[in-house]
This record gives sequence, C-alpha cells and structure tokens, in this order.
Amino acid sequence: MATLWDPAERHGHLGPLPGQRLVLVTGAARGLGVGICKQVLQQADAELIVAARSLPKAQELADELGPRCRALQCDVSDEASCRLVAETVAKIRGSRALSVVHNAGVAYDLPWFPAPWPVEAARVTLGTNLFGAMRLTEALLPELLDERAHGRLVFVSSGAGAANLSKMAEERRCALTTIEDVKALKDFCEAFIQAYEASAKEQAEVPLPKLQEGFWLQSNGFSKACLNRYCQMMALQHPTLCCVACSPGFVETEMVKTYRGDSKLKSVEEGGDVCAWLALSPDAGPSGVKTPPSEGEGQPDNHEKNEGLAAAS
Ligand SMILES: NC(=O)c1ccc[n+]([C@@H]2O[C@H](COP(=O)([O-])OP(=O)(O)OC[C@H]3O[C@@H](n4cnc5c(N)ncnc54)[C@H](OP(=O)(O)O)[C@@H]3O)[C@@H](O)[C@H]2O)c1
Repeated sequence: MATLWDPAERHGHLGPLPGQRLVLVTGAARGLGVGICKQVLQQADAELIVAARSLPKAQELADELGPRCRALQCDVSDEASCRLVAETVAKIRGSRALSVVHNAGVAYDLPWFPAPWPVEAARVTLGTNLFGAMRLTEALLPELLDERAHGRLVFVSSGAGAANLSKMAEERRCALTTIEDVKALKDFCEAFIQAYEASAKEQAEVPLPKLQEGFWLQSNGFSKACLNRYCQMMALQHPTLCCVACSPGFVETEMVKTYRGDSKLKSVEEGGDVCAWLALSPDAGPSGVKTPPSEGEGQPDNHEKNEGLAAAS
C-alpha cells in the first residue's frame, strides 16, 4: 500500500489547478505549520485558513501573510472547536475544493527526550496526533466529500511511524495494517495506552522504549503509525477523497529543540514544501502513505543512539 515517493519528481506532476482551492492548516501558528502556510501561498492560487489553538496568534500570522489568509481558532482535541471550524468552512468555501493539512501535533517521548518519559505521554499524544486529526476530519467530511470539488487530506506523519510499525510484534503489525474501522483503531490504541501506562510506571527498572505486549512503547511513533493507517482507511472508504500521509523530514522547530545530534535540520519552509505540494497537486494524485527515500535519516529512534545527548529543555 505504501508508495515510494521521490520528492525530486514532484514538480513534474504539477499542473494548472482545476480551480481555486481552500487550504486549511492546523497547528499553523508556529513551527512547521508556518512553513506549510508560506509554501501554500507560494505555490498556487489558493486561499488559506490559518487554524491554531490561539486565535490571536493565528490572526497575527494571517495578517502577516496577506489578504489570501484568514484565521480560525481550532483545538483539535476539542469537539466543539472542530464543529465550529466545520461550520465556518461550510459558510466560506463556496464551490472551492477543500484541502486539510493535519499538522497539529505533540511529542513527549522523542528518542532524545529526557527519561523517564511521562506516564500520560501515550494518551495525550494519541489524543492530539491521531484522535485530533480524526475529529476534525469527521467534522469536515461533508465539505471534503462535495462531488463538485473533491477534497484532499494531508496527514503530517513521520518516519517514526514506519519505524514503530517495524518494531511491533508481527501479530500487532498485521492487526494494525488490516484494521478497517474507526472503532477497531480506537480499541487498538487503547490497548497500547494500557500497556504504555503500566510500563511507564516501572521505568526506574526498565526504561522505555521497549517491546511490551507486542507494542513498541514509544507513543509519538505509534501515533504516526496509526495515523498512516487512518489515512489508508479514509482512502478506502472514500474513493473521491485523496488522502496522503507524508513525512516532512527532520525540521528545526520547538518539537526538536532538545535534539543535540549532528543531523542537518530543515528550515520550516523546506519541511513545509512537501506538505503544501501535496495539498495543492491536481485531484488525480493517488492516495497513499508517501515515503520520501531520505525519510527517517537523522531521526534516531532509540535511547542507545543518543546516550549523552539528552539535554534540559
Ligand atoms: N519537526 C520535525 O522534525 C518533525 C518531523 C516529523 C513530523 N513532524 C510533525 O510535524 C507536525 C508539526 O510539528 P512541529 O515540528 O512544527 O512542532 P511544534 O513546533 O511543537 O508545533 C506543534 C504545533 O501543533 C499545535 N498543536 C498542538 N496541540 C494542538 C491541539 N490540540 N490543537 C491544535 N493545535 C495543536 C501547536 O500549537 P500551540 O502553539 O497552540 O501549542 C503547534 O502549532 C507534528 O505533527 C509533528 O509530529 C515534525
């Protein structure tokens, strides 16, 4: 199901846009979100919704980026906030196709983060990175499934997702890659959370990450593995909806500020380029989990590789 995707080829697929597109970016007011917004405005005749938890910060960025932008408050962990976003989008979209870039994310247990990792990391990470994207997608489905203007979902995933999938026990991996409905995916995540919370309480003896009950207990990577599966599920359920998950690469943001390795980090504009292109490319583009060849480079996924690198945040 995964498609190997060479970013160098992408400009070859770019063509004139069939019409004006409305692009909504979540978590847009800082980090990679800002880079995605700037690239969206560079690349096409698109209008942009800068969606962020803080409306003043979203408004500040929208003002800075110019007249093709508007700001909306959006907390993806809050049902009412997502519903309000959907109501507003329904009012302003008109006949334009909608692209949603699910960028909002949190990380509490990246490989170089100081241990012990917080017990609540799994629940909070999944609550934003996966359930947040699901919540907003559900709210926006009527707009995304408009037959006159096919929508697009871009999930900002990570090489950590594929890494986590490869470290699960075979049985768990098979289960995740064949899940077909949201309830089963939520149950799978709940089993992970239970295993994580139980193990995290005992970290003094055996630090995370480790394999427990068939799960590789690192919640950022697990959330992205599940996000990739959700992307595939949405593509299967909605043939007119283009659904893509991608990795932006290793990008210099708040999220990775404690990283002390020697990998070269991309600027937010460089990282945002891929996500913006996927949001704007013509409707014929295939759904799938896009994996740039360089994905994962410089993103060490265990503590051993980073001994001595953990730094105070
Ligand atoms: N940086 C990398 O190397 C890298 C690599 C692979 C994937 N990614 C992914 O890229 C995305 C952006 O990360 P980043 O590096 O830009 O991290 P970041 O600087 O920490 O930014 C995270 C963004 O998500 C927002 N956010 C968090 N919880 C939210 C919620 N409940 N509702 C709405 N927005 C929420 C934050 O908003 P507030 O300002 O309100 O906190 C912030 O705008 C994430 O999904 C991350 O997993 C990053």
